[in-house]
Amino acid sequence: MSKINSVDELEARGRRVLVRVDFNVPVKDGVVTDDTRIRAALPTIERLVGEGARVILMSHLGRPKGEGFEEAYTLAPAAARLGELLGRPVAFASDTVGADAQAKVAALADGDVVVLENLRFDKREKKNDPALCAELAALADAYVNDAFGTAHRAHASTAGVAALLPAYAGYLMQREVATLTGMLDEPKRPFVAILGGSKVSDKIKVIDALMDKADTLIIGGGMCFTFLLAQGLAVGTSLKEDDWVERAGAMIAKAEERGVKLLLPVDVVCADAFAEDANTKTVSADEIPADMMGLDIGPKTAALYAEAIAGAASVFWNGPMGVFEMKAFEAGTKAVAEAVAANEAADTIIGGGDSVAAVNKFDLAEKMTFISTGGGASMELVQGEKLPGVEALRAE
Ligand code: 3PG
Repeated sequence: MSKINSVDELEARGRRVLVRVDFNVPVKDGVVTDDTRIRAALPTIERLVGEGARVILMSHLGRPKGEGFEEAYTLAPAAARLGELLGRPVAFASDTVGADAQAKVAALADGDVVVLENLRFDKREKKNDPALCAELAALADAYVNDAFGTAHRAHASTAGVAALLPAYAGYLMQREVATLTGMLDEPKRPFVAILGGSKVSDKIKVIDALMDKADTLIIGGGMCFTFLLAQGLAVGTSLKEDDWVERAGAMIAKAEERGVKLLLPVDVVCADAFAEDANTKTVSADEIPADMMGLDIGPKTAALYAEAIAGAASVFWNGPMGVFEMKAFEAGTKAVAEAVAANEAADTIIGGGDSVAAVNKFDLAEKMTFISTGGGASMELVQGEKLPGVEALRAE
């Protein structure tokens, strides 16, 4: 397989370097409310600035219609936050490849930085349109992709443009790929994988892939009820996917065959409504009342899971154990987060999305070995898929 060049190999001085970052960050009232992804791109940006490159940053934010500017999705707040973090002025272009972008790029001195407006205001971005790729490439002399979070998208800025310029991987991209593939290729054992989230259908490929790698597989979140159904239990009004019961049953059988310990809830926090102030009751997993829904794992399950996590040498976690956004149903996710954090000897990897939000909510991020900035991207990588944003960086 052909090699991927690192940004370390780029002779950057005086050159215009187009960097794809993932600044798809939450914004409220024109202010970035979580700058994790911006911070994660700093090592690459700072290296290029330090080398005297003319740095052109591009990203998407959200899912605008693709028919031009939409205030809710402007990258201006992200550019402002980047300026604060870098401690230097950051220019902002009010378009992506238009007259303003061209003028702002032309005005860059060595070591300057400009952020282009949201790529997805142009519908050609998601189509990987060759004309947009050419217009992006025309802005620069070299291309760096540091947007791991968007590496599972084959868009103009993540795929097409890479073929038109000398292409390099940024530090975040390298670290994400190395950490996640390293975990899969040579996990320290015992390797405990924790999977939560609402749907089996979303996670089946990840469960399947981890079944070949993990020593223990812990299941929580809404999807556990489809597994409980497969065990012949009744789940009341809990979230369930009838079409996936058979597949869940096949996974239980596969775990047995492979000698993988598959842990499912033994007790459940039930509620009479999907609401913070619902009436709740903690019951054994085989006693879920017909008129109640499970919204969290129970304390016995949490203790069981915590024990497995305590004995792990490496842990991968994706997906909450319950509706942790509501106080009444956060205990299971919190217990798991605390157990992962407490195992300081283990490699602990948090695979993006809601589990990152949970770790942040319980203020445990500092205790984890690695927190992926990619939700969808990390899942695709773990389930064994090739990421277009990574593949596009391979030299011919
Ligand atoms: C993400 O947040 O997962 C990435 O930024 C990709 O965003 P998308 O799912 O809108 O392509």
